[in-house]
Amino acid sequence: MIEILGPAEIEKMRQSGLLAAATLRMAGTHVRPGITTDQLDKLCDEFTRDHGGISAPLNYKGFPRSICTSVNEVVCHGIPSRKQVLAEGDIVNIDVTTILNGYHGDTSRTFLVGEVSEEARKVTETALECMNAGIAAVLPGGRIRDIGAAIEDIAHARSFSVVRDYCGHGIHRVFHAEPQVPHYRFRGANPRFRPGMTFTVEPMINVGTWRVRLLGDGWTVKTTDSKLSAQFEHTILVTEEGHDILTDQALLPGTKYDV
Ligand code: MF3
Ligand code: CO
Ligand code: CO
Repeated sequence: MIEILGPAEIEKMRQSGLLAAATLRMAGTHVRPGITTDQLDKLCDEFTRDHGGISAPLNYKGFPRSICTSVNEVVCHGIPSRKQVLAEGDIVNIDVTTILNGYHGDTSRTFLVGEVSEEARKVTETALECMNAGIAAVLPGGRIRDIGAAIEDIAHARSFSVVRDYCGHGIHRVFHAEPQVPHYRFRGANPRFRPGMTFTVEPMINVGTWRVRLLGDGWTVKTTDSKLSAQFEHTILVTEEGHDILTDQALLPGTKYDV
């Protein structure tokens, strides 16, 4: 069952989306060689609490930290650590999920740490373009599978691959709800977009193979060939006209998160 949110719930999703976007923007200003992923975690958790929110990942199915930080060949769900110092040339995805008034906002970006290789820049730029194309496919009369088709076309045109093991997801009171939102062409369920649906679009784009493996910590996901992976994520609302991006940082000016 895919939930259709009413006006009051949509307003709460807008508020949690804004706080998640503001938290991620704040985190991005701290990314530089020498900072640890644990410091980024602490900054995000404090910012979230200072603004009345809760970091959704903390204790979610046993996840030990407040955000995910996924460096280089880590595809997703990297665990922030005091031992992990960002270095010039790294790419790092920071994934923030915020609960505010019971509703979730989920957003991530991959940041370049100082000067990076051409390949690192290209896969990061492609992941952003892929997310944007997937979001742009959320149009009246369309269906969930349109998203993956748009993403796959861009990734494959650059000879990159699309991760298949992890998908976007419905999101509202529940962190991971229906529908599943694959970022590649697949043969499964293909629900129609309905105004009031909320879900994420969060493609993970790999330089090499799409295949991934889970590390022994039970969370960290890496590419099997140890090549780079990049990801961007927004929380989307389906509207009569198409969609709104609830975690868009362009929405922050003029709000209480204006700086
Ligand atoms: N934020 C991730 C997503 O986009 C999920 C993280 S779950 C965690 O769905 F437990 F690893 F935090
Ligand atoms: Co996320
Ligand atoms: Co998500």
